Amino acid sequence: MNTELGRLIARRIALAGPISLADFMAEALCHPRLGYYRKALPVGAAGDFTTAPEISQMFGELLGAWLAERWLAMGGPARVKLVELGPGRGTLMADAMRATRGVAGFHSAVDLHLVDINDQLRALQGQVLAAYKPTWHARFNDVPEGPLLLVANEFFDALPVRQFEKTARGWSERMVGLGSDDSLRLALAPGVTPYAAALPDAPVGTQAELCEAGLALAGTIGGRLQRHGGWALIIDYGRDGALGASLQAVRGHRGADILDRPGETDLSAHVDFAALARSIGRPTFGPVGQGKFLQRLGLAERANALKARANAAQRASIDAASARLIAPDQMGTLFRVLAVGDDRSAAPAGFSDTSSDQI
Ligand SMILES: C[S@@+](CC[C@H](N)C(=O)[O-])C[C@H]1O[C@@H](n2cnc3c(N)ncnc32)[C@H](O)[C@@H]1O
Repeated sequence: MNTELGRLIARRIALAGPISLADFMAEALCHPRLGYYRKALPVGAAGDFTTAPEISQMFGELLGAWLAERWLAMGGPARVKLVELGPGRGTLMADAMRATRGVAGFHSAVDLHLVDINDQLRALQGQVLAAYKPTWHARFNDVPEGPLLLVANEFFDALPVRQFEKTARGWSERMVGLGSDDSLRLALAPGVTPYAAALPDAPVGTQAELCEAGLALAGTIGGRLQRHGGWALIIDYGRDGALGASLQAVRGHRGADILDRPGETDLSAHVDFAALARSIGRPTFGPVGQGKFLQRLGLAERANALKARANAAQRASIDAASARLIAPDQMGTLFRVLAVGDDRSAAPAGFSDTSSDQI
């Protein structure tokens, strides 16, 4: 915990008692001065982790085509809020916009809104997206109301989760307290948690997580779509259901201890897509595995088009990037894609019409 933020969190616990893992995560990631997402440049090869848009331009290009096609399916409204949650370096949106230049009327209809709390990333986004005059917000709630096209890649996994363990007495919450040497320690709260009613029955020793911030945000997005129409595409590593402890820490592309060096360590948890879909309260499609989704959108055809203009080394790197995005043992099944829309439409591109879409 030997960071300034670790010492601040320890002092808060010494004064006011143990905090939930969700409170710890909110401090570690979003503290206004010292939080991980406030100061570092985390995304990309030099950061702590890399993401699909940074692996290949094809990811943003295919998502751009999906968004523009959904705009056409909406009847091509004269104005649409194109919103990205957590745009990182702006790569996904830059690729999406470049790929949709030929869609008549789309760019002139788009009001681009970016939701991010990281000033350094906002500056990078401003550089690559200057032509589209984006507006930034710290929260989705601040984006003005209106017809919506929303995309979020690896955003929901950064929202704080509570963690629980089933004991002989019932579900108990895992808290962050202090050890005898005043270092941060994980321990179960002594009583049964009031969140027990939200958790399924499970054998003693089972772990579970709840992401209240993610579910609340999903409800807000669903409300906007209900009022104004539109589509949302949520991509993240995920699972169905609350069971299991998925919270993980990464620093410099390696696993780390959750409580170690708060503010310098990325924390993320798998997204419970079943709970997200319930909270959205709108018709959803998927989740489908990222690999299947990108293949259905034409990843192979796009790769071939790029390879036709490439040298041997570039062709090899396009193949490697494709494999990384879609292979089941890489990002293909761990990452899932959920679309949110309306009950008038058939399944959009990338999703099957049956309720048993495959991961
Ligand atoms: C894991 S990165 C993903 C970046 C990008 N979507 C990509 O795929 O490369 C998470 C992004 O969300 C932003 N972010 C994290 N937590 C946030 C929060 N609570 N509110 C707003 N933005 C947040 C980060 O600054 C960063 O841009």
